[in-house]
Amino acid sequence: MPFAHIVGTGSAIPQRILSNADLERIVDTSDEWITRRTGIKERHVAMADNHESTADLGSRAARRAMEMAGITADLIDMIIVATVSPDRIFPSAGCMIQREIEANNAVAFDLSAGCSGFVYALEMANNSIKMGQSRNVLIIGAERLSSVTNWQDRSTCVLLGDGAGAVLLSSQEMAGGILSTHIKSDGRLWDLLYADKGNPPLPASLEGITTIPFHLKMEGNRLFKQAVPSMANIAEHALAQNGLRLEDIQLVIPHQANLRILQAVSERLTIPMEKFYTNLQKYGNTSAASIPLAMDEAFREGRIKRGNHVLLVSFGAGLTWGAAVLQWTI
Ligand code: UT7
Repeated sequence: MPFAHIVGTGSAIPQRILSNADLERIVDTSDEWITRRTGIKERHVAMADNHESTADLGSRAARRAMEMAGITADLIDMIIVATVSPDRIFPSAGCMIQREIEANNAVAFDLSAGCSGFVYALEMANNSIKMGQSRNVLIIGAERLSSVTNWQDRSTCVLLGDGAGAVLLSSQEMAGGILSTHIKSDGRLWDLLYADKGNPPLPASLEGITTIPFHLKMEGNRLFKQAVPSMANIAEHALAQNGLRLEDIQLVIPHQANLRILQAVSERLTIPMEKFYTNLQKYGNTSAASIPLAMDEAFREGRIKRGNHVLLVSFGAGLTWGAAVLQWTI
């Protein structure tokens, strides 16, 4: 069976920065509260003039990943876009990106699994490559969470940001690359984090069809308590599955929701925080984009070297959570 190797990474971030100080002018909050409770200092917000739709950001990230890999768009067999904020209900962001990057031989679609979408997409891509159905698969996490943010709700609007990350996977005979993926969901708790955009509740009467609730709703505290054990347990399972010890992992790339969540996961796993890559300070929580965006930055900064074992771990709406173990080969 062939192995799926990461051969290129890329990311794209909107130009406009929204700092904690900017948010102090929008809602009743403070830089001190946001920093202490979340670790976030600023986030980026997509703007029409900058051509920063979900598909625009995803396409830019994808082009950078293809450039790094030296693989042209016509060689891509599959595009999976993990997103909870596509530009349209249909067609998929995947098909819009396919046109933009001219990957005319690919099959393209979206995958909705909240902040765990990238790890889910990695599993789909890995399976397709291992089964011999695809040679080159582009997986993209792209989000414009500002499109579902309630800017009057201080408990959520300070957390979210826009951005995209992409990874190009290629089939190779050499062992390594994606060693394993693990994904889970628990729909019983879906109402801890959801958005109604585009899917208004069933109207009681014809008049009701014009009232469209729009915003993201979140029970942060309950999510926090679910996130920590879910992430720690699935990470431990992923390591055990590969016969790896904690010290065999050179870098953990977690979903970037909250620094305190990551500190708690680090304590439970007894993997020191220095091995956790974080960039939520600059971007906030970019949902499905957060892991590929962090992976691209970590690699370009030299934090990941050839041969390193990298652990990905995610948690998000659904509820969904997941982990993956990689052996880096570029
Ligand atoms: O992406 C994956 C899914 N997301 C997550 O897993 C997120 C998980 N949850 C969290 O990250 C944290 O729960 C939050 C950052 C959302 C909230 O932190 P917290 O420490 O759980 O705060 P809290 O919700 O318990 O609120 C504490 C206080 C409240 O005031 P009272 O009731 O104690 O007077 C809130 O009204 O902080 C207040 N508060 C704020 N104050 C200033 C909430 N948001 C803000 C704010 N600025 N932005």
